[in-house]
Amino acid sequence: MADPHPRPIKVLHVVGARPNFMKVAPVMRALAARGGRFEQRLVHTGQHYDQAMSQVFFEELEITPPDENLEVGSGSHAWQTAQIMMRFEPVLTDAAPDWVIVVGDVNSTMACTLVASKVGARVAHVEAGLRSFDRDMPEEINRLVTDALANLLLTPSPDADENLRREGIPPERIRQVGNVMIDTLCRNLERARARHVHRRLGVPPRGFVYVTLHRPSNVDGRESLRAIADCLSGTAERRPVVFPVHPRTRQRLADFGLLAGLESRAGMRLIEPVGYLDSIGLADQASCVLTDSGGLQEETTFLRVPCLTLRPNTERPVTITQGSNHLTTLATLPADLDEALHRRESGETLPCPPLWDGRAAERIADVLLEA
Ligand code: UD1
Repeated sequence: MADPHPRPIKVLHVVGARPNFMKVAPVMRALAARGGRFEQRLVHTGQHYDQAMSQVFFEELEITPPDENLEVGSGSHAWQTAQIMMRFEPVLTDAAPDWVIVVGDVNSTMACTLVASKVGARVAHVEAGLRSFDRDMPEEINRLVTDALANLLLTPSPDADENLRREGIPPERIRQVGNVMIDTLCRNLERARARHVHRRLGVPPRGFVYVTLHRPSNVDGRESLRAIADCLSGTAERRPVVFPVHPRTRQRLADFGLLAGLESRAGMRLIEPVGYLDSIGLADQASCVLTDSGGLQEETTFLRVPCLTLRPNTERPVTITQGSNHLTTLATLPADLDEALHRRESGETLPCPPLWDGRAAERIADVLLEA
């Protein structure tokens, strides 16, 4: 049979913000391993730009430096989206790829998908089909727009396929490939463990709560953030709390006069944002994780570490039905925490969703070669 791809397939990858980097790394590696079948370029929109929010991930995950950095920076959603679109268009036109590959659900994902669709470039979306059914979340809008436009929807789990079918997406555009975040986790877990981050922070192994909170719905409102700070103070009285603070959260804690009080609490370790390896190391050694991050819900499911998600919903329901995740509220957090600590101590073994096996990116390479 004649080779459908007599020349290398030209791929333009897009990343923008922290949760994108661990998704693009395995895909670029898997495509590079196919002996010259793919020609790859990487665009960083610059949505995240601090060393701790961007560069450290390139170094730790051995991602090649971006061919283009659009240096967009922070701004309102409309401003940021518009800037990404304007700056991405000439880069796309110049590269003329066979595929634009976007990952996740951040503003960069949606903005570059819109640009590519308008010029008729084919888009593949990695981590397609997730839905929180909550349009107050900016990421839900990004997911809906991206999936409506993308040509190839690469999904991590069966619920994602179902969501897409319900939205009328033709089945031939949907491919369940598994979870690329877990590819990165499998590859880096031993390296992460060898760093002993908990020792450096002086907290006991399996004896602390790892906290990450940055969603606007949790941290942007004064009352909500004050209630969270009170709750974390109560938690720190029972177990040490390790809390790497996202720039958005740090700014709001400072704005609302909550930062100094929280920092001075016994048992509370407020630290700068950590890189990928230390985040994994902390999740692996925590008694329990308290978060509003999407990625940590998946990572804790794979690590079988109890996770409490401080949100009314999740776009990752398999982490609840087949994993270690539970939704929590400020009202139920103390009781939920007790229960989670007991789960870790009793060593409950949990299953892991299918295709969360470290080989999702290889399946993506296969799909692209067939497409
Ligand atoms: C973005 C994503 C969110 C993701 C999160 C992970 C969208 C809509 N949101 O939210 O889905 O979970 O990244 O971190 O795309 N800032 C810095 N340094 C940086 C980047 C941001 O200090 O490198 C500060 C700026 O003050 C900025 C604020 O953080 O205004 C928020 O950044 P932004 O990219 O708008 O949203 P995130 O909350 O990070």
